[in-house]
Amino acid sequence: MTADAVNKPLLETVLGRRQERLPIWIMRQAGRYLPEYREVRARAGTFLDLCYTPELAAEVTLQPLRRFDLDAAILFSDILVIPDALGQSVRFEAGEGPILEPVTVETIPGLDPSRALEKLSPVIETVRRVRTSLAPDKTLIGFCGSPWTVATYMIGGRGSPDQAAARLFALRQPAAFARLIDILVEASIAYLGAQFRAGADVVQLFESWALNLDEVAFRDWVIEPNRRIVEGLRQAIPDAPVIGFPRGAAGNLPAYAARTGVNLLGLDFATPLAFAGNLPPGIGVQGNLDPLRLLAGGEQMEVRTRAIVAAFRDRPHIFNLGHGILPETPIAHVERLIEVARGAL
Ligand code: CP3
Repeated sequence: MTADAVNKPLLETVLGRRQERLPIWIMRQAGRYLPEYREVRARAGTFLDLCYTPELAAEVTLQPLRRFDLDAAILFSDILVIPDALGQSVRFEAGEGPILEPVTVETIPGLDPSRALEKLSPVIETVRRVRTSLAPDKTLIGFCGSPWTVATYMIGGRGSPDQAAARLFALRQPAAFARLIDILVEASIAYLGAQFRAGADVVQLFESWALNLDEVAFRDWVIEPNRRIVEGLRQAIPDAPVIGFPRGAAGNLPAYAARTGVNLLGLDFATPLAFAGNLPPGIGVQGNLDPLRLLAGGEQMEVRTRAIVAAFRDRPHIFNLGHGILPETPIAHVERLIEVARGAL
């Protein structure tokens, strides 16, 4: 970095340096609550077509920054492009979410991580395009799904409240499951490395289904694969800044923070604010307003937002929701949220 380079408050915060400006982004900030997203989405074809069309994906990545005073753009893609790139059948049905042809003991060895990056090249091109259009003080966040979370969809074939199909598969077929995790670790390292080389400043690991796991499963299926990704990525990109978001980790959160090597920890909204006291000293946090508080808006949202900003005043903190914004959220509530969060510091 040159001496006169513009500072990116969000990136600096991930690197452990608290800033005067409270950095803010909103999980799933590009999406259906925005009319301009719905307009592009309608002419893109399928959801995966949108993810694989750099011109349109770059456009929707940038949309939230045109409207709101945010500190980061997050690459528009999905955690399920990796299974798609590995050769699994993936589709998104309106109102139903993702539907995959479940992998089996027989099909797992046929998944080929060496070719995945080529299939993902349009997503890398999106990163490049966004980088060139983004103001120098804005951070570009890349991402992938963490192996366990992606595996729950690959094995179960769709989202489920308890991930029972994947948990049973891992217990009954440990060798095939370990092979699947290895494939996902390898593909994720290559994919995130390519995102950095194309201009991402930070990446986030979405471990959206870190709940429902006992401490042994959490260690083997969540901590260990996330740790291997961070380690492998930093062999290629030294000091690569990483945000880990193990949603639902609850009592397993301190072990995740201590052992994966992530720079900063995303907190879901069920994590009590005082729980940060159990984390390794100095580690930064991101979060953690309940998306329903944002949807409902008003006084309760403002009170909780101020409490979150106050609670994390003594450590690096990125303000965010504790999970993705809901499609029904009024835009005026988002504007007000950002105003209140900034005013609270
Ligand atoms: O601004 C952004 O964050 C956009 C990029 C983004 C999307 N998905 C776009 C998307 C990101 C970071 C994701 C992550 C993602 N995808 C996660 C992890 C975060 C989380 O919410 O826990 C997960 C579990 C998925 C898998 C997924 N993708 C599901 C379960 C669904 C259906 C439910 C839903 O929210 O619609 C998707 C589809 C999806 N991914 C949409 C968007 C904008 C909506 C589809 C559409 O517009 O037609």
